[in-house]
Formats: sequence, C-alpha cells, structure tokens
Amino acid sequence: MFKRKKIKAVARKLVTSTNPQSIISEQFRTIRTNIKFSMPNRELKTLLFTSSSIGEGKSTIAANVAIVFAKEGKKVLLIDADLRKPTMHFTFLKTTSPGLTNLLTSHWNLSQVVKETGVKGLDLVTSGPIPSNPAEILGLPSMDTLIKNMKEHYDLIIFDAPPVLSVSDAQILTNKCDGTILVISSNSTEKVNAIKAKEVLQASNANIIGTILNNYKIGKDHYYHQYYG
Ligand SMILES: Nc1ncnc2c1ncn2[C@@H]1O[C@H](COP(=O)(O)OP(=O)(O)O)[C@@H](O)[C@H]1O
Ligand SMILES: [Mg+2]
Repeated sequence: MFKRKKIKAVARKLVTSTNPQSIISEQFRTIRTNIKFSMPNRELKTLLFTSSSIGEGKSTIAANVAIVFAKEGKKVLLIDADLRKPTMHFTFLKTTSPGLTNLLTSHWNLSQVVKETGVKGLDLVTSGPIPSNPAEILGLPSMDTLIKNMKEHYDLIIFDAPPVLSVSDAQILTNKCDGTILVISSNSTEKVNAIKAKEVLQASNANIIGTILNNYKIGKDHYYHQYYG
C-alpha cells in the first residue's frame, strides 16, 4: 500500500505579510534598516540574494525583504532569477510564464510580464520558461538593458539567484547588481562552503553588503530568526 501524498495548492506563508507584528517580521525590518545604511555613499537600487547551496532560505528571505521595503512605501520589483529552481511563482500563486526569460530572449515588455503580488507596492517577475542554458541567458546584453529599464520604474529591484557553488548564474548577475547579500543557514551551511561562496562572489566583483544568518535557534520560544551582519 502506498501512502497518498497530499499536495496542497497553497502559497508559501510570508511572515512579513501574514504576521507583521511578529518578532521575525521585526528582524526583517532591522535587516531593511541595515541594508539602507550599508552603502551611505552609493545608490542601492539592485540587490541580489544568493547562498552557497540550495535550501538555505534565499527565496524566503528575498521575498520577505521585498515586502518590508514595499510596506515602507518603496516601489519594489522582485525577480525570480533562479532559472534552475524557481519558486516565486509558487510563493505568490502565479504562473511561471511570461517571465524573466521571455524578457531576455524575446520581444516582451516589462509591463506585459510584471505581475501584481497582492502586496501594495510589490510587483513580481517570475522565471518564465526554464531555458537549457540559464547562465548564458542571464549574461545576455538584454539583461543590462532590462536592468536599466527596471531602474526607471522601480525604487528597488531584488533578484533571487541560484546558489553560488554549483552554477555560475549568481556570479554573472552579481556584478550587474549594486549589492549582494549572502544567506547562510545556521543548521545546514558548512563554514568552508560559506567562505568559498564569499570568495567566489568577490572574484566576480560582487559588492557583498552583508550576510543573513537564517534558521538560527536562539531559545526554546523563538526558533527561526534571521540575523544580519
Ligand atoms: N527561517 C525559516 N524558518 C522556517 N522555514 C524556513 C526558513 N527559511 C526557509 N525556510 C523553508 O525552507 C525551505 C527552503 O527555503 P528557500 O527559501 O526556498 O531556500 P532557497 O531559495 O535557498 O533554496 C522552504 O520550504 C522555506 O519555506
Ligand atoms: Mg530559492
């Protein structure tokens, strides 16, 4: 006998949207403040989230950071640039296409592709059809034109990228972005991998503005917290 797995078509819960008064949402607001003060002398309009490997919380954190900036009144665009394992369409219950790959490889306009998220001030670009060569697609000159165009319409553009150690996609994107944040999971990231990820990013001219420690257990009452440093 096989146990039947129930697949629920529900969106992933985003704590900053569902429970803005919680301690975790407060942590995200602290992260927002730290991001704002990370580059006092330079404009920060494009921000990339990555980590050393999968499952460390990049997408969860990118979406929550996008929400707290939108709640502050900024016009924010969240982009699912993880063309290997996109999840934002799932998080916001949208279709994957049209999305980023359509924008980069064919004649779609940003306005035709952007999806509303239900959070005021926050728009989403989903991945689009998954290509066989994501790194090449992300490195196309059309990406530079697209970023320029997005900057004209949004205050902040947040890229959710694939992990650094397995594929080169994040390296390609990182030097197109004003700032990069490395997500580290305290219960799964090996120290050596976190260091390697930082080195790989630095070799690609990344401007690492900080790291976020995810899944840090601080006591029996508060389990999942993010710390920024
Ligand atoms: N701090 C956290 N507390 C609880 N669950 C988390 C936390 N961070 C991430 N998750 C869950 O872990 C899984 C992987 O997170 P995700 O953001 O998709 O990672 P990545 O994008 O790095 O692969 C998801 O199911 C997500 O909901
Ligand atoms: Mg992800």
